[in-house]
Amino acid sequence: MSASSRPRSSRRPILLLLSGPNLGLLGERQPEIYGAATLADHVERAEQAAARSGCKLRHLQSEHEADLVEAVHGARGSVDAIVVNAGALTHSSWALHDALAAFDGVVVELHLSNPDAREPWRRRSVLAPVADGTVAGFGGLGYELAIEAAARLVVERGDKLARS
Ligand code: DQA
Repeated sequence: MSASSRPRSSRRPILLLLSGPNLGLLGERQPEIYGAATLADHVERAEQAAARSGCKLRHLQSEHEADLVEAVHGARGSVDAIVVNAGALTHSSWALHDALAAFDGVVVELHLSNPDAREPWRRRSVLAPVADGTVAGFGGLGYELAIEAAARLVVERGDKLARS
């Protein structure tokens, strides 16, 4: 990232990466779909991408919808962007949808696979309506792309606020 696209404020933006159910099994779980990398590998990749973008990264993985909802609540007012791979909760969690709707920062939905190319029930994301955008189908590269997209949107919004 060039110096001109770095956030203007001296505070480094904070990005929160949320990982939903079963993502802790990456590396063992259906490697033909999700690849051989572990969640720790993806988080490290995301951390490096965040550092390159001048941001700090926090990460939470949970099997429990309530933990993810609480993490979104806790992010209000202190986190600039949320990147969320909610696993199967993507397709069912209206609670997570509502929590993200109440978060006023950037939201990027992330998937390793391309759910649109899989079973019909995966083709509906209940989170997409409250996300700024979705990165899907790029495997581990998606973690870098999603972090970079989130960081750039944070900068763009900050610039807009500064001009208004
Ligand atoms: C996933 C896609 C979801 O449909 C699935 O339930 C997951 C992983 C992905 O990263 O491709 O657990 O979010």
